[in-house]
Amino acid sequence: MTLSALIGGLLLGSTAKAQWNAPGSSQDEGFTYVQPADTIILGQYGQSPAVYPSPNATGSGGWEAGLAKAKDLVSKLTLEEKALMVTGYPGPCVGNILAIPRLGFPGLCLQDGPLSIRVADYASVFAAGVSVAASWDRTLMYERGLAMGEEFRDKGSQILLGPVAGPLGRSAYAGRNWEGFSPDPYLTGVAMEETINGIQKAGVQATAKHFIANEQETQRNPSWVNGTISQEAVSANLDDRTMHELYLWPFANAVHAKVASVMCSYQRINGSYGCQNSKVLNGLLKTELGFQGYVMSDWGGTHAGVAAIEAGLDMDMPGGQGTYGMRWGTSFFGGNVTAAVNNGTLDESRLDDMIVRIMTPYYALGQDSDFPTVDPSTADLNTFSPRSTWLTEFNLTGESSRDVRGDHADLIREQGAAAMVLLKNEKGALPLKAPKSIAVFGNDAGDIVSGFYNQKNYEYGTLSAGGGSGTGRFTYIVTPLEAIKARAAQDKALVQYWLNNTEIAASDINTLWVPKRPDVCLVFLKTWAEEAADRTHLESDWHGDDVVESVASACSNTIVITHSAGINTLPWADHPNVTAILAAHYPGQESGNSLVDVLYGDVNPSGRLPYTIALNGSDYNAPPTTAISTTGVEDWQSWFDEKLEIDYRYFDAHNISVRYEFGFGLSYTTFALSDIQAAKADEKATISAAPPAQEIQPGGNPALWETLYTVEVTVRNTGKVKGAAVPQLYVTLPESAPAGTPVRQLRGFDKVSLKPGRSDTVNFQLMRRDLSYWDIVSQEWVIPSGEIKLSVGFSSRDLQQFATITPVSA
Ligand SMILES: *[C@@H]1O[C@H](CO)[C@@H](O)[C@H](O)[C@H]1NC(C)=O
Ligand SMILES: *[C@@H]1O[C@H](CO)[C@@H](O)[C@H](O)[C@H]1NC(C)=O
Ligand SMILES: *[C@@H]1O[C@H](CO)[C@@H](O)[C@H](O)[C@H]1NC(C)=O
Ligand SMILES: *[C@@H]1O[C@H](CO)[C@@H](O)[C@H](O)[C@H]1NC(C)=O
Ligand SMILES: *[C@@H]1O[C@H](CO)[C@@H](O)[C@H](O)[C@H]1NC(C)=O
Ligand SMILES: *[C@@H]1O[C@H](CO)[C@@H](O)[C@H](O)[C@H]1NC(C)=O
Ligand SMILES: *[C@@H]1O[C@H](CO)[C@@H](O)[C@H](O)[C@H]1NC(C)=O
Ligand SMILES: *[C@@H]1O[C@H](CO)[C@@H](O)[C@H](O)[C@H]1NC(C)=O
Ligand SMILES: *[C@@H]1O[C@H](CO)[C@@H](O)[C@H](O)[C@H]1NC(C)=O
Ligand SMILES: *[C@@H]1O[C@H](CO)[C@@H](O)[C@H](O)[C@H]1NC(C)=O
Repeated sequence: MTLSALIGGLLLGSTAKAQWNAPGSSQDEGFTYVQPADTIILGQYGQSPAVYPSPNATGSGGWEAGLAKAKDLVSKLTLEEKALMVTGYPGPCVGNILAIPRLGFPGLCLQDGPLSIRVADYASVFAAGVSVAASWDRTLMYERGLAMGEEFRDKGSQILLGPVAGPLGRSAYAGRNWEGFSPDPYLTGVAMEETINGIQKAGVQATAKHFIANEQETQRNPSWVNGTISQEAVSANLDDRTMHELYLWPFANAVHAKVASVMCSYQRINGSYGCQNSKVLNGLLKTELGFQGYVMSDWGGTHAGVAAIEAGLDMDMPGGQGTYGMRWGTSFFGGNVTAAVNNGTLDESRLDDMIVRIMTPYYALGQDSDFPTVDPSTADLNTFSPRSTWLTEFNLTGESSRDVRGDHADLIREQGAAAMVLLKNEKGALPLKAPKSIAVFGNDAGDIVSGFYNQKNYEYGTLSAGGGSGTGRFTYIVTPLEAIKARAAQDKALVQYWLNNTEIAASDINTLWVPKRPDVCLVFLKTWAEEAADRTHLESDWHGDDVVESVASACSNTIVITHSAGINTLPWADHPNVTAILAAHYPGQESGNSLVDVLYGDVNPSGRLPYTIALNGSDYNAPPTTAISTTGVEDWQSWFDEKLEIDYRYFDAHNISVRYEFGFGLSYTTFALSDIQAAKADEKATISAAPPAQEIQPGGNPALWETLYTVEVTVRNTGKVKGAAVPQLYVTLPESAPAGTPVRQLRGFDKVSLKPGRSDTVNFQLMRRDLSYWDIVSQEWVIPSGEIKLSVGFSSRDLQQFATITPVSA
């Protein structure tokens, strides 16, 4: 890098350092700096340290051969070709890198999203991230990733835009929480790692997104008036420890799994845009975590050319977009990259590294041989960059409208059932015992009446996914009502149904029964969430709570099933006539079949809550920042002042009673725990507080991933039917850990299927990172001295087996 480039990176880079330290100075191509309004109190944040230069990839961790091939390709590229390799273009896919036929490079096809290949026909829609987290099932996570990867591959898409660990779920209201997994970083970390392993096993590149602290939708992008920014995007302001222990944690798992790509986020972090924040991209991601792949921008998230490149951004997507007054084909990258190299502002070696990073996973995953062509039907379905926007011809060959679903429907049915969380079950309500008369209520029970290809918030129709880029284009959907009718026919049962919520809520249900009171009333509630909007409340949509009250006032066996983006407050949960509650989240295309399997007991529910259900919506802390009524350019600031106290960490720290705690879920059988034992993995080893210095590998210092202790516990099925238990291990660090350390934190879980009367030994492996806190002074993960308490139970508040370990004496 040249000196002028370095200075350019610092001064022109939109790191907050430049912004805050040089008020009034002109910024780079991205935007004009305007001094913050006086009303903004910067507090201890307001600055993101400058970390330059951007580290070169080395291929460490197993990608050495791929890196060599990538370097060879780079050596054959002209400067213009290099600029094209890092810049998106309108084309058949949601993101496109142009082909270089001269070198046999077919280009890259990037496709949404985390639960399905969205812009496609004859593809499956899988369960959403929140359902996957609710399964607490590592194998399921892997198998779903593998099946999705297969579909992307068969459709000719090298790059899957998922999975999601940002949002993590700081706020119960955030509009995209359902795309991700859980507000617990450990659970999300495992889900990231397993999903990525599955996707990449299929030969498709996974993209961990959105990096980082992307915890709300409101003002995620700047507001523009007449071509200039009137208000910058919201800034997520968080301290270093919170960054490491919550938000960075699952991304570390993603990098550890050798994720090919990381998508930087729209919003700012400490005042600096996610896609040009050198501290998070060059510092945390590429240096501390040793990330060997490439950073791609979220769509339209690039706000600068050279400054973003120097800060660590490797690929601009989609490469010019109407929203910001830019035309397709114009980009902060593209021709600007060529110009910046030619005039000496950008060192060509940085550009080379960008392409090496993009092409290393391509070769490492074998995408250079026998990769299917882009399905031509993709181009017809693409509304984001339709043919009318194309600036160049695309060579679309191969069979059109390929059916890539295989036998994935069976898997989706099974996974949807395995993810359902039984929250209440009284008076033997479930499983159903061949009821002869069933009443079904609610606008979530039946079919969507306005077309359902991409799910929308229609009044009528069951919800199996949320909205936005993370949704799926259904080829069919099995509704609860249709599956119930089919199953009830086996018992020659009567099935009556009322789907109009307004009518149900206002009616005297007693007048509806024909010819007599039904054996069971099934009430279906739905809750929508989508990209670009945060939720405004935590209740069910369409007066769902009134529907339950109305039905329960007349039906003593009311079973409520929710299809929801996540947290609902369930105010009627203690109603004596509500005998059972089943949280089905967003189960994917086999929704009704998955449900019926659980209702009738063919599958014993084994999902557990991946978040906390509070007694009252106002009990949740850390709401999104939505109430900015001022017009200052810098006024959108979101202070993560709750630090580590999100979800159960908050409720536990303040002893707040909750309705259903994190990790909770019932079964049709019962389980018992016994015989906890904790032992050092290596009896003779002396454990140091800080990790021994080792060469950084993907995921960071390898010592962090070493198992230091194993914990065993026996779990026994004490009931009468087969079922799966989810024993969970929580760690309580000693008082020598810094103030603000959570009361307990999930650090192990397993899912064990057991026949009645049988038992099994569950083995948890505690890695160094699991027993450490992030020390902001030494910038290391440190094991606090003294006794660490281990608690194993069936939820975060049902702890039954205890042990202590002392890795580092006081
Ligand atoms: C944000 O600012 C806080 C407070 O100064 C600091 O601890 C943290 O490391 C900063 N993080 C980033 C990514 O700039
Ligand atoms: C990256 O490698 C190039 C040589 O290929 C070298 O000139 C440059 O200084 C390296 N950059 C860094 C940040 O190490
Ligand atoms: C935007 O431009 C239009 C047309 O030039 C002008 O009428 C309007 O006042 C401008 N709006 C702002 C907020 O500057
Ligand atoms: C360079 O970037 C600017 C945005 O700052 C854009 O308007 C322009 O079209 C870009 N040039 C090229 C050749 O893409
Ligand atoms: C070099 O080119 C870049 C990209 O077009 C431009 O932003 C920058 O101002 C130019 N610098 C000089 C010194 O000409
Ligand atoms: C178009 O694709 C086909 C099949 O992949 C290939 O044989 C042909 O060379 C390509 N043509 C061009 C102009 O890239
Ligand atoms: C639902 O019921 C309400 C109240 O009876 C009625 O106004 C509305 O038209 C009904 N909707 C449909 C689609 O029938
Ligand atoms: C429960 O349902 C019965 C009808 O079976 C009804 O008589 C009773 O009032 C209901 N209980 C409540 C609390 O609404
Ligand atoms: C929930 O909390 C709010 C504010 O504290 C209160 O006004 C409301 O009555 C509570 N609702 C219930 C159902 O307890
Ligand atoms: C919560 O309860 C525990 C145990 O009863 C107690 O030690 C702690 O001080 C309480 N914390 C708060 C914030 O009340």
